[in-house]
Amino acid sequence: MQRITGDTGKNIFTLHGNSSSYSLQLYSRRYPLHLHWGSNCCPGGGNGHSEHPVLTELPYSVNPDPDLPEFFPEAQHFEFGWPEEGDYRRPAFSVRDSNGFPVPGPGRVWGDILWKKPELPGLPEARCEEGELTETLLITMEEHLSGLRILIRYTPLPEYDAVLRSARFENRGSEALTLDRAMSCSLDLPYRGQELLYLRGAWAKERIPQHIAVEPGCHAIGSTRGISSHQYSPFLALLSPDATEHSGEVWGCALIYSGSFLAEIERDYCDTLRLNLGIHPDTFRWQLAPGEIFDTPETVMFYSPEGLEGFSDRSHRFIRDRILPPAFRERERPILFNNWEATYFDFDEERLQGLADTASELGIELFVVDDGWFGERNSDAASLGDWQVNRRKLPGGLGGIGEYARERGMQFGLWVEPEMVSRESELFRRHPDWCLHLPGRQAPESRRQLVLDLTRREVREHLIRTFDELLDSAPISYVKWDMNRPLAGAASPALPPHRRGEVHHRYVLGLYEVMEAITSAHPDILFEGCAGGGGRFDMGMLYYMPQYWTSDNTDATDRLSIQYGTSIVFPPVTIGAHVSAVPNHQTGRSVPLDFRGNTAMSGNLGYEMEIDALSQQERADIARQIAFYKEHRRLIQFGRFIRLLSPFEGEGAAWMFVDEQQSGALVFWFLAHREANRMRRRLLLRGLDLQRVYAEVESGRRCRGDELMHRGLLLPPAAHDFESVRILLKGE
Ligand code: DGJ
Repeated sequence: MQRITGDTGKNIFTLHGNSSSYSLQLYSRRYPLHLHWGSNCCPGGGNGHSEHPVLTELPYSVNPDPDLPEFFPEAQHFEFGWPEEGDYRRPAFSVRDSNGFPVPGPGRVWGDILWKKPELPGLPEARCEEGELTETLLITMEEHLSGLRILIRYTPLPEYDAVLRSARFENRGSEALTLDRAMSCSLDLPYRGQELLYLRGAWAKERIPQHIAVEPGCHAIGSTRGISSHQYSPFLALLSPDATEHSGEVWGCALIYSGSFLAEIERDYCDTLRLNLGIHPDTFRWQLAPGEIFDTPETVMFYSPEGLEGFSDRSHRFIRDRILPPAFRERERPILFNNWEATYFDFDEERLQGLADTASELGIELFVVDDGWFGERNSDAASLGDWQVNRRKLPGGLGGIGEYARERGMQFGLWVEPEMVSRESELFRRHPDWCLHLPGRQAPESRRQLVLDLTRREVREHLIRTFDELLDSAPISYVKWDMNRPLAGAASPALPPHRRGEVHHRYVLGLYEVMEAITSAHPDILFEGCAGGGGRFDMGMLYYMPQYWTSDNTDATDRLSIQYGTSIVFPPVTIGAHVSAVPNHQTGRSVPLDFRGNTAMSGNLGYEMEIDALSQQERADIARQIAFYKEHRRLIQFGRFIRLLSPFEGEGAAWMFVDEQQSGALVFWFLAHREANRMRRRLLLRGLDLQRVYAEVESGRRCRGDELMHRGLLLPPAAHDFESVRILLKGE
């Protein structure tokens, strides 16, 4: 199937997905207009006027083009709208020339079809196979006086009903240009009663789904923290008024980027929705010298005619196939032990060895030493930047404890926080100017640490060298890459004055360069991203680090909500989830071990508690959880994940995993709060083969797929709060 078709007479281009299409028109060779994004359709096929823009008399509106007297930009549906010619909505871009004058929109626009997706140097982006035909539509917008050229790139990926978009700004003139705003994607859609969905949160309560009506006006979420943040995910979706988890239309977009971002919807007086997604303009300004180019990060836009489930399914497959490092696409993730909540900073070699002995007896596969192994790191007050092992704590060094774990049949992993420096450190004493700071002012601290200035080449080179050596110094198979504070007062005195507004984005580019160098020099190490839990859980990070520590909140009931919300965009194989102690360290709540186990084994299972102080019963229960997970982890990590009951709507939550052939499924049901006089419930399953008979492995009960899906699986009676069950189904 041809992925892009063009009607050159009418200048209409259509991008085709398996169940979707996206069309635009270059009107009058000057205005890129949005025609359609939704179910398959090919505008302009007949001789009707579906391809024409709205032409109407609009009193008190601006008409920039005498040849098009009825063309009023503010009433049009644009693809990448600009502000200077009578369009007053939130623009896609804003550029000034060297005299400070705004550069108006293009004088000329044209389209080309390329056979290959152009690369985005220095940025994470959807991966395409060598030789894969990834037709790309390139719309070029040119403003001849300033020499500004904007190339908007559209790459359809039909198997996910996805379109990748990014924009390149080129200065082909002889004077510098300044970008004040450069979105990755911008388009106008008709308002048809859609609802807006985004993921909001805070530390320890990340990615809670928020549905709001799109009232007239602007609705913006974003981050100016230098990281994508705990507060909002770089994602938004519009849901048709009839959309549910399983039906209705969903238009969802995510930015493949880890820094400050803006995602906004404006509903204007014409009932048009403008959707913008890109780098946050409040912390962005970019100087484009003659001959220079600037690439925006990539956005992926999905259309689902099958509700949120259809959206998540597309996004999960896309992330697994196109974002994660290829070596980890299919690689099973080990069950890990992490010592953080077991010891915090207070450990020595003997304590770690004791924990390692128990971990290996329980069947754990990866032993991770978290914060506190280096320098004088006995609290969060010191030593970030001094990545030498503390021999008083670990006389055998990292090699010693690493070998100890390996001899017990486990891999060894390590926590690091490369982007930071403590004021109390050798690194800071040697290079006080290596942190982001305003000259002459004390840089603001958070968690008693400062952010290294990754805009500086020597800092990046230092990090690459230091971590290359560190990772070669011991048998390390896993790295937890943490980042524990947002940027604030972020300035780099090393940048020339006209580039000082570039710090936020240059920081992210510097980070990507460092991560690219370190991860590609150590391709077999499994990296897990972390930012005080899930403060930078985004597709940009997953491009380098195939899994993410989802939240510092390990309370299993809170985790139901966090993991449920996270799963809207991200697949379970990226979701780090640990069983921790009770009472829980973040909430003080006590939840049974099987409930904690079932929650954690719905992602990448780990344990983070004093496993050397467990009762015999707890040890046996954990060993059973681990054995079960090992047997079924392929299904969990690589099967299709389907949400069944939302923790935000009722007494608990439920979800299931189904394999590709629909030959087996694993259902999890959690009851957080049991009400009095409670009837037994049926749970409607999804994704099974209607005709096939499935047997419940434990009870032997058999049932056809249609009955399980349309009448439901009979759940066990529940006696108390925090009950959970997992039901394994085998197709016959
Ligand atoms: C924050 C992380 O989210 C925790 O899991 C732990 O690694 C601490 N940092 C260590 O300082």
